[in-house]
Amino acid sequence: MENYFKKSVLKLDGYISPPQKEYLAKLNQNENPFDVPQEIKAELCKEAEKLSWNRYPVNTSPELRNQLAEWHHVRETQILLGSGSNQILQTLLSAVIEPGDKVIYCPPTFSLFDLYTDVYGGELIKVHHAPGGKFPINELLQAVEQHNPKIILLCSPNNPTGFEMELQDLERVCKTAPGLVFWDEAYGEFSDQSAKYLLDKYRQLIISRTFSKAFSLAGLRFGYFLAREDIIAQLVKINIPYNINLFTEMVAIRLLQNLSFMEKHVAYIKNERERLYNQMTAIEGIKVFPSAANFLLFKSTDGTNLFMELKNRGILVRDVSGYDLLDGFLRVSIGSYEENNLFLHKLTDIFEDQI
Ligand SMILES: Cc1ncc(COP(=O)(O)O)c(C=O)c1O
Repeated sequence: MENYFKKSVLKLDGYISPPQKEYLAKLNQNENPFDVPQEIKAELCKEAEKLSWNRYPVNTSPELRNQLAEWHHVRETQILLGSGSNQILQTLLSAVIEPGDKVIYCPPTFSLFDLYTDVYGGELIKVHHAPGGKFPINELLQAVEQHNPKIILLCSPNNPTGFEMELQDLERVCKTAPGLVFWDEAYGEFSDQSAKYLLDKYRQLIISRTFSKAFSLAGLRFGYFLAREDIIAQLVKINIPYNINLFTEMVAIRLLQNLSFMEKHVAYIKNERERLYNQMTAIEGIKVFPSAANFLLFKSTDGTNLFMELKNRGILVRDVSGYDLLDGFLRVSIGSYEENNLFLHKLTDIFEDQI
């Protein structure tokens, strides 16, 4: 293989896809527990019959960008569409990183940040942020001044910790950064803030959003960037042509025409997040961390192997032990009311069984 592939690829483990099998409660991928309502699915499937499947879609989906622009109060030329936000993150990093370029990020955070940076030969500079700790803004600013990074990769609310960085801190980073600042808002709809209002102020800011979480569309793959026009104009040049398929485009447009489903589901999930957080806090033997996303980070405080104990009881959560600083930690997605109750019951059982 040495003759065929880059060294940076050969040494990678690659993205490890978590199990997708059926469990009593599948709470391991931060998916939305609510599917798109059946009547909308039926209506869209009928509409799909009328499309010309033999033709390419209109490149860069102007109608979809129009709808997004209206929602976010930006111009459509400020939007780049992706087959999932991961696809355009890869496009972005391929356009930015040359071998040896410095890339700063704050682990534990989204796993694809280091995967893609490695592939393009970037040098990762880590500014660690321990769960529950104060955000190391001064260390981050110092690292930016010292290393002159080509790009800084931030995620807020952060996966897998749920921590939300203050926009004031983002502004300080933008003021100091010599290069681009990437801000992943995949869980933005579950939080009360968005950095989109800073786009006019900071030329190098790129915001990433997705329909995989709040919009219940993980299976159809759709995400997008918001940035200044001149930044998007560069990225459009190398984005894969026709990357949004006809069906995904049609569904996304339909969901944007009636945001009430998404908003209703998000409100429900935020309520459940509070309920789960409070009830987990009350269980002795568990430490749980506040979250602005659709999941909670937690761990056992007495060494119980909660991942296996939960799995044996039919509950699948995400073992995030492999991340920096997260040895022994787990992440649970907020599910439906029934799934959350099941999770809480099984969790309580584990500790009662030990007595
Ligand atoms: C921080 C973050 N960004 C992006 C994504 C993926 O988004 P998409 O499904 O749009 O590729 C995820 C998914 O888990 C995520 O946690």
